[in-house]
Amino acid sequence: MAILITGIGELTTNDPASGELADAAVVLDGAHIAWVGPAARAPDADERVDVAGRAALPGWVDSHTHLVFAGDRTAEFEARMAGKPYQAGGIAVTVEATRAATDDELAANLRRHAAEALRQGTTCLETKTGYGLTVADELRSARIAREVADEVTFLGAHLDTGPGYLDLVCGRMLDAVAPEVRWADVFCEEGAFDGAESERVLRAARARGLGLRVHGNQLGPGPGVRLAVRLGAASVDHCTHLTDADVDALAGSDTVATLLPACDLSTRQPLAPARRLLDAGATVALATNANPGSSYTTSMAFCVATAVLQMGMSVAEAVWAATAGGAKALRREDVGVIRPGARADVQVLDAPSVTHLAYRPGVPLTWAVWRRGQRT
Ligand code: NIG
Repeated sequence: MAILITGIGELTTNDPASGELADAAVVLDGAHIAWVGPAARAPDADERVDVAGRAALPGWVDSHTHLVFAGDRTAEFEARMAGKPYQAGGIAVTVEATRAATDDELAANLRRHAAEALRQGTTCLETKTGYGLTVADELRSARIAREVADEVTFLGAHLDTGPGYLDLVCGRMLDAVAPEVRWADVFCEEGAFDGAESERVLRAARARGLGLRVHGNQLGPGPGVRLAVRLGAASVDHCTHLTDADVDALAGSDTVATLLPACDLSTRQPLAPARRLLDAGATVALATNANPGSSYTTSMAFCVATAVLQMGMSVAEAVWAATAGGAKALRREDVGVIRPGARADVQVLDAPSVTHLAYRPGVPLTWAVWRRGQRT
């Protein structure tokens, strides 16, 4: 069934062939976009939705979340707001709760958060394992994630649980989980895995055919960014503490710098240096890092507003980073863009322009969302 979305006052396509269009229309045919252009020239369709001058754009692509979890860390958050520093050790609290949960409980929690994200315009969602940290718990986390998320990442190397754990991750755990996922990630940070350990994890993952992602330079400077670039990772995420050499390395590479502003705020870190990265020519994505510890939000709009209000990104840069940038970080060409053949993932704002995402921060502006051509 073809759906004509017409009366779009401002259409952000992310397609260089169309650019930004005024008084535009989009036709969705099944799960894909069939036509994009001026409303006056739109073809007929089975259903017509007039959005009365509102702005439309691709659905958000949230390329970094940790949503296979159980439990709650409100007390840790309260302590942090009272001045206690964020430490990666809090991950262990969620690991314990996750191991104790049933498959059904984990799946229900993931579905609840994915639905919450979708209501706010997120139509493509990546999520990770990493709160299981045994072969059986990582495997079930990956299987549960596959049922819900568009992209799944193995993060067995989230926390070192003791002697022999790295061998386990690089051996039996990867053997078990690799067939279920597309990506592998490692938390390369003091208190988690150092550069050499992280490289070992990434090489073992690559040997099993997985694409690479890295958590790097989150809590302090470190080797994560340059390791990610050297190994050709699709993305290095956080990038909060960057040296000039890190920025130069990213600028000269295909590795996307995925910035997680909600996490920087929630952990009382400085905000990632978006402007330095963009001015140097690096590719920047924005994502929520939704997880119960360091960043408990599914709001991409919040990330976009923060990027504009606090990180020196223009509205156009932030919207691109949260849509096409996320798609690049996931090496996908079918999402984050409105052009014929792309996935029919479109959001309409209750606003005349995407500028309102930053101009009216905190206001729920999502008016309509189509994912794979289905209105949600
Ligand atoms: O991306 N940095 C490591 N992992 C998560 C935090 C997870 C947690 O605190 O539970 C992150 O911030």
